Amino acid sequence: MQVLHTIAQVREARLAFPRLGLVPTMGFLHAGHLSLVERAQRECGAAAVTIFVNPTQFSPSEDLDRYPRDMPRDLRLLGQAGVDFVFTPQAMEIYPPGFDTSIDVGGVARVLEGAVRPVHFAGVATVVAKLFNIVQPTRAYFGQKDAQQCVVIRRLVRDLDIPVEIVIGETVREDDGLALSSRNSYLTPEQRAAATVLYRALCVARDEFAAGERDGDRLRAIMTTALLTEPSGQIDYVSVAHPDTLAELGAIAGEALASMAVRFGPTRLIDNLILRP
Ligand code: PAF
Repeated sequence: MQVLHTIAQVREARLAFPRLGLVPTMGFLHAGHLSLVERAQRECGAAAVTIFVNPTQFSPSEDLDRYPRDMPRDLRLLGQAGVDFVFTPQAMEIYPPGFDTSIDVGGVARVLEGAVRPVHFAGVATVVAKLFNIVQPTRAYFGQKDAQQCVVIRRLVRDLDIPVEIVIGETVREDDGLALSSRNSYLTPEQRAAATVLYRALCVARDEFAAGERDGDRLRAIMTTALLTEPSGQIDYVSVAHPDTLAELGAIAGEALASMAVRFGPTRLIDNLILRP
């Protein structure tokens, strides 16, 4: 496995692969990332991973400095997985002096996470566009856990005609339902136990939907009630939205994206399920 630090090195390495699957990450890898790597290898015949804790998607009040990092472990896992190359640039390589471009993908970036984290999706869209231009993958793989990020990236690729196919991998969960996330490492044992309430609330919505409930207000209320059974969690939002536009739904005609953000102390967790008829 090659470990590359510069854009020039990546451009050179890329030439060896007719098809390449890319898994962009911020490191501190878990089984969710590795399942995307495995799929990229299977579908494209070669896989690259980027590890870059992107400063522009964190606001000054967020957790950039304390974001978990373990590069030796990440590289060991990716080596064992047989990844072809890893790109781990310094911030100066991605954002040289004078860098001043930012991509605004519009309305889908302003609701839900975007309403609470105003700079977040411009940072994500800009760095992902750069990584696509640098690596030029055939396909790029993202996790459904970050549902809104998936919507934003699909929109970015569609609106800017970026020649890459976006593939979304299922959320990988612990046995008790908690979605894998690098941020779970911040949780105290008590918060970790309490955090299972997110998946329980989503399952209640899924079951009600399966039983015929199609009223968005009612589904949001059901999830909120379920979340309130865990008083240590502070609800940021509960949403039942259109899966492409992210507009909140009243009467639901097709699929819906049920999602939520809940804080446990300083740690903010998100999760979602697609409700399918
Ligand atoms: O999901 C992430 O880890 C990041 O948002 C991404 C897509 C790598 C961009 O920095």
